[in-house]
Amino acid sequence: MRDAAPKTIFLSDYTPYPWTVDSVDLHFTLDPHATRVRSVIRFAPNPAFTGETPKTMFLHGEQIKLISAQIDGAALDPDLTGEGLTCAVLGGSFTWESEVEIDPANNTALEGLYMSNGMYCTQCEAEGFRKITFYPDRPDVMSVFTVTVEGPHPVLLSNGNPVVTENHLAKWHDPWPKPAYLFALVAGDLVAHSDSFTTMSGRHVDLNLYVRPGDEGKCAFGMQALKASMKWDEDVYGREYDLDLFNIVAVDDFNMGAMENKGLNIFNSSAVLASPETSTDLNFERIEAIIAHEYFHNWTGNRITCRDWFQLCLKEGLTVYRDSQFTSDMRSAPVKRISDVIDLRGRQFAEDQGPLAHPVRPESFQEINNFYTATVYEKGAEVIGMLKTLVGDEAYYKALDLYFTRHDGDAATIEDWLKVFEDSTGRDLAQFKRWYSQAGTPRLSVAHSFELDTLTLTFTQQTPPSAATPNPLPQVIPIAVGLIYPDGTEALETRVLEMTKATQSFRFTGLEDEPVPSILRGFSAPVVLTHDLSDADRAHLLAHDTDPFNRWEQGRMLARKSLLAMITEGADPDPAYLAGIHKVASDTTLDPATRALMLDMPSEAELATVLHEAGTTPAPAAIYAAREAMAEARADAFADVAADIYAANTVNEAYQPNADQAGRRVLGNAMLAMITRRDDGAQAAAQYDSADNMNQQLVALALLVGAGKGDEKLQAFEKQWQDDRLVMDKWFGLQVSKAKPEDAAATARRLTEHPAFTHTNPNRFRAVFGALVMHHAGFHHVSGDAYTLLADWLITLDPLNPQTTARMCSAFQTWKRYDSDRQAKMLAEITRILATPNLSRDTTEMLTRIKG
Ligand code: ARG
Ligand code: ZN
Repeated sequence: MRDAAPKTIFLSDYTPYPWTVDSVDLHFTLDPHATRVRSVIRFAPNPAFTGETPKTMFLHGEQIKLISAQIDGAALDPDLTGEGLTCAVLGGSFTWESEVEIDPANNTALEGLYMSNGMYCTQCEAEGFRKITFYPDRPDVMSVFTVTVEGPHPVLLSNGNPVVTENHLAKWHDPWPKPAYLFALVAGDLVAHSDSFTTMSGRHVDLNLYVRPGDEGKCAFGMQALKASMKWDEDVYGREYDLDLFNIVAVDDFNMGAMENKGLNIFNSSAVLASPETSTDLNFERIEAIIAHEYFHNWTGNRITCRDWFQLCLKEGLTVYRDSQFTSDMRSAPVKRISDVIDLRGRQFAEDQGPLAHPVRPESFQEINNFYTATVYEKGAEVIGMLKTLVGDEAYYKALDLYFTRHDGDAATIEDWLKVFEDSTGRDLAQFKRWYSQAGTPRLSVAHSFELDTLTLTFTQQTPPSAATPNPLPQVIPIAVGLIYPDGTEALETRVLEMTKATQSFRFTGLEDEPVPSILRGFSAPVVLTHDLSDADRAHLLAHDTDPFNRWEQGRMLARKSLLAMITEGADPDPAYLAGIHKVASDTTLDPATRALMLDMPSEAELATVLHEAGTTPAPAAIYAAREAMAEARADAFADVAADIYAANTVNEAYQPNADQAGRRVLGNAMLAMITRRDDGAQAAAQYDSADNMNQQLVALALLVGAGKGDEKLQAFEKQWQDDRLVMDKWFGLQVSKAKPEDAAATARRLTEHPAFTHTNPNRFRAVFGALVMHHAGFHHVSGDAYTLLADWLITLDPLNPQTTARMCSAFQTWKRYDSDRQAKMLAEITRILATPNLSRDTTEMLTRIKG
């Protein structure tokens, strides 16, 4: 049924749909292999459609069996293709009725209506609704849905408010017009963890978190996070919830993190279920952020949605930005900012540097699922942050108020979004818009000179050309700058410079002495900054910068520089860097989380990106060896204090997943990593044995496995947790990520033979293969075994689950960086996968782009 030559869809081809859909009535009769869906859909001419009303109507529909169709009661025999149907229509309004049959039990793609452990569940974003019934499945077609679900299940859910609840039948009405991608249905034997929230205007909202029996004990944290999110959106954005009910459902088989369906969010169980015994500190933090993210979509995504999928960043960039603000408020703002930058550099910069580079708002695609990327999400959020930096906080919230009033109920565009800012601030954002239209990470270099009482900073920006943007033009770069005098006092508080030209100078006069410039404070723009500060100046900022991000950044630069010298020149670890982190980590006036962040080493992947950036071919084994040598040198440098810092940061109170305790644990565990290099794993084993929470148990296990002393504990862990799916994912992943590079592929292969391995569950598949591709030296081991193993499994998974397969293909996106032998090996695997008969549109597009 699949098209031989996939179609490319262009932003510039957008036209409104000829009709509006005034109401949608759906009736589901559930059956694993033969679910019947009856629909009654009222169409009317769309006043916004300027062309002549067409004589035929196209409705999307894929992998569904048409039983009957009628228009205004008259039976039809429409033309069917693999993508939908076409039928004749007369002018004016009309009612479409149809009945179709679908097979949820055989839906392994997890898109549309599918089954997971006996429960029915949907995923419709981006284009999954067309696998449920015939419909104009595009986000600018918004309608009011009434849904009846019939089936022998205790819980039958859909969007909105319940109207009828009977035995084996439930009817739901969602008063808010929505696009089909926000439709959801859930049916199964589920239990609810319930609570309620009273909104700022006094509306009572019932809250339920539905889970499989047995998971009731993992709901409390998610529920608290939901309530905190609802309150925060009222306090900070003035946004109130708009239904009587808010439901969340946890499902084990899910392609991504979670989905913001109106009033019925569906979550990957890994993104919502949490308990101290089974979740790490990072799990808790991620769950809190994802719950907030999906909840915040109710306004940024649902009440105001996207006109077309090219506008995806309109809802995702803004919602990621909002959830990062939330996390900053709930936890530590500097820690959140630094973690986000680490993530951006690790994933988005690599994407921008390679063949998958695309603008935050792409201009063409074949499969939209391939554009749920770090660029759309994370760089999309950076663009919002820059806008806020440029206009200031007050103007930002004023513009957001205007956005919500002006566009409530709309399917909007980036042009609408920017116009709101232009109208409310009087600024011209034409040049700023390049952040949405140009791919690539700008390189920003700065030179400084001082004469008499004047400091001059001269900036130059240049974005490397890419296939997506062959001729990049200068962008508007907000550069937050501060100045620090030699005595450590502040010469200038943070000021935002607005760079608009390719080269531009800024002068600071009336200075008493030559200051050290602190540039790009808070990482005020997603650029690669080159600033030829001396090591002494960096050390000065490390000690005195009032901007927490830049203090961290200077330490990071020293670590990076030392590691690069070790990799490319065989240098020894830099003693100044070791002394610097020793000082910071021992400084008890700083909070533990900050001290731990200072100890964090750039990842192998980040170092590879930096080397490639500098025109050097990254050698995976050398990068791995340098980090190992640095870790050894750190263990020596900290030999005098590691045990004390470890002890001082032991948490003796009952486990709480809060930032304070987590900060102490992460610092203590950084010490434990050093101790484990010197004590044969004795302390790690002791921590493992005494741990009463997953964080401490798992860290200890990982250290033991990394030290080659983990076999016995691995077995014990498996025995203890064999019935917990999410914990077993950790057990699978850790063995791969802690394997020696030469063993990584063999370890992954061995784990695929474990009886609990299954490639149809995305979490389990990613536990093994996500860990393999993130193991830089293991994935790129010179044998090429990991390339072959991954390709074999991608070929196996593609016919079952194209989305998860295509996503994993990005492991090959950096292939052109490496030496010719590795390039040839990766290219051979890419070519082999592409030659597979009937390869999905998703995977075909990804690999074709990657191949370049
Ligand atoms: N809108 C969801 C979120 O970010 C993600 C949906 C991802 N869909 C996809 N086809 N990849 O909250
Ligand atoms: Zn989202």
